[in-house]
Amino acid sequence: MYSRIAGIGSYLPERVLTNAELETMVDTTDEWIRSRTGIERRHIANDDQTTTDLAEQAARRAMENAGVTPADIDFIVVGTTTPDVVFPNVGCLLQQRFDIHGCPAFSVETACSGFIYALSIADRYVVSGGAKCALVIGAETLSRMTDWNDRATCVIFGDGAGAVILQPADEPGIISCHLGADGRYHDLLYNPYGTSKQRKPGDTEGPYIQMRGNEVFKVAVKTLENLVDQTLAENHLDKHEIDWLVPHQANTRIIQATAKRLDMPMDKVVMTVREHGNTSAASVPLALDTAVRDGRIQRGDLLLLETFGGGFTWGSSLIRF
Ligand code: ACO
Repeated sequence: MYSRIAGIGSYLPERVLTNAELETMVDTTDEWIRSRTGIERRHIANDDQTTTDLAEQAARRAMENAGVTPADIDFIVVGTTTPDVVFPNVGCLLQQRFDIHGCPAFSVETACSGFIYALSIADRYVVSGGAKCALVIGAETLSRMTDWNDRATCVIFGDGAGAVILQPADEPGIISCHLGADGRYHDLLYNPYGTSKQRKPGDTEGPYIQMRGNEVFKVAVKTLENLVDQTLAENHLDKHEIDWLVPHQANTRIIQATAKRLDMPMDKVVMTVREHGNTSAASVPLALDTAVRDGRIQRGDLLLLETFGGGFTWGSSLIRF
């Protein structure tokens, strides 16, 4: 038994924040942001929108695309670093929205790698017969932990959600998932506070994303190169057999480096970073949905998904769509 993606959907909040607007907020330029990151605009959730709101819209679109209803869902896993509340988790909040009750519902907290971690877990449940219709989501409202006075981070991040429905299949499907993490790098990309570690008087860091961007960049490029090599080797694949690279949308230059490693022309690489910015766990399913809906990715294509984020964490998935 295998699992396959039976449906996909995504959602972006309506409000668009352009580089031109950011020029009025911090000391930056459209030219700097475009040349260093590839980003031109990003979507930002309204004040009354939470991660669950974004996830719900993406999930409804994925269910519609798969031809299933909420009553068919028997497993919910959400990759997110920006849950609405500490608990209940976003999966439980979604259950309530869909008025379905009883199935496992949880979230995984691996920053930008959240969706691929979630996909990997759901795949194992479907393959082992533990789930027949799994809802897998990556959803974030990173704008809520972005310091809008810090030009080094606020130009990068955006909000959004993407979702897939996984169902059993006789043929793969999800061919393989490869996950990794290295906590030695915890201080290159982090939010200093949470629940058991709270901000104290005198603490200099704010409750926002802290990033040593240049150092993150270097480790990301090296790790992603190793990850794609590992994914190809473990599947005895030649790099030219991949039809589409669907990378984490952090930075055009990081994506180009991975594409070069795969000897892939950029027109075979799905790029949404220009319009979405870095939406963390939502980035890969948002990119995948974009290319499915505009007709580039077709059923039967061989896809390589990859991601890298805070922790550090990373993950890839080889998929026959
Ligand atoms: N506008 C203008 N200048 C800026 C800005 C800005 N928005 N931000 C930084 N600068 C300046 C810096 O102050 C620095 O100035 P200096 O030379 O006078 O000191 C100069 O630009 C160069 O700064 P660098 O940080 O070296 O720039 P770099 O080319 O590395 O680009 C960036 C920065 C875009 C952040 C890049 O390093 C990057 O993309 N890193 C990876 C981010 C990433 O992948 N994160 C992973 C996932 S996120 C997650 O898990 C939540």
